[in-house]
Amino acid sequence: MKTLVLFGSARKHGETSAMLDLFLEAMGSKAGDVEIIDCYTTDVNPCTDCRYCWEHRACSIQDTMQEIYRKIDAADNIVIAAPVYFYSIPGKMKILIDRLQIYWAGTLRGDKPKINIKKGAGLLTGGAPSFPNQFIGAELVLKGVFTALSAENLGIITFPDTDKKRVNENEALKESIKTLVSCFPSLPSAV
Ligand SMILES: Cc1cc2nc3c(=O)[nH]c(=O)nc-3n(C[C@H](O)[C@H](O)[C@H](O)COP(=O)(O)O)c2cc1C
Repeated sequence: MKTLVLFGSARKHGETSAMLDLFLEAMGSKAGDVEIIDCYTTDVNPCTDCRYCWEHRACSIQDTMQEIYRKIDAADNIVIAAPVYFYSIPGKMKILIDRLQIYWAGTLRGDKPKINIKKGAGLLTGGAPSFPNQFIGAELVLKGVFTALSAENLGIITFPDTDKKRVNENEALKESIKTLVSCFPSLPSAV
C-alpha cells in the first residue's frame, strides 16, 4: 500500500500540516508507505496546453513532474492537503495540479480507466470563520483531481477559522478525521 500526499501549504508547520499529521496518525498502517510532495519545494513548470497528452499518456515537459507521475501511478491513495487561498488552492499547488492534465486526457485518448483505481481524500484549512461556500473553489479543484486520477473521493474535510482556532485542540475535527480514515480499506492481515 502506498499513500502519496500532495501538500500545498506555504507554511511547513501551520494548521494544514497539523491536520495532515492527525490524518496520517489516524491512518497508521493503513497508509502503508507514505510520501509527501511539498508543492512549495518542488520545482514544477506550468502546463503549456501543448496537447501532447491528447495523444500520448505522457507530458512533453521534462522536469520534476516526470518523477511525480511515476509516484502518482504507483500510489493506491492520493491525499491532498492545502489551505484555501482566495477560495482556491495555493498557486504552487495549482501549477502541479494543472500538470495532471495527462490523466484527464485519458478520456480523449480512450485509455482512462473505466473504474476507480485509487482512493482519494482531501484536507482543507481556511483562516476565516465558517461561511457559505468558503471552501467551494478548492473542493471543486480536489474533486476534479480525483476524477482525473480515477480515484474514489472518500471525503474532503474542511477546517475553517484557523486565524483563531488550532487544529490540534479541536475534538470534532479529530472525530471527522477518524470517520474519513474508516472509509479507507483495511490492510489484509499477514498470514
Ligand atoms: C494568500 C492567502 C489567501 C487566503 N485566502 C483565504 C480565503 O479565501 N478564505 C479563507 O478562509 N482563508 C484564506 N486564507 C487564510 C488561510 O487559508 C489560513 O491561514 C490557513 O490556515 C493557512 O494554512 P496554514 O496554516 O497551513 O499556513 C488565505 C491566506 C493567504 C496567505
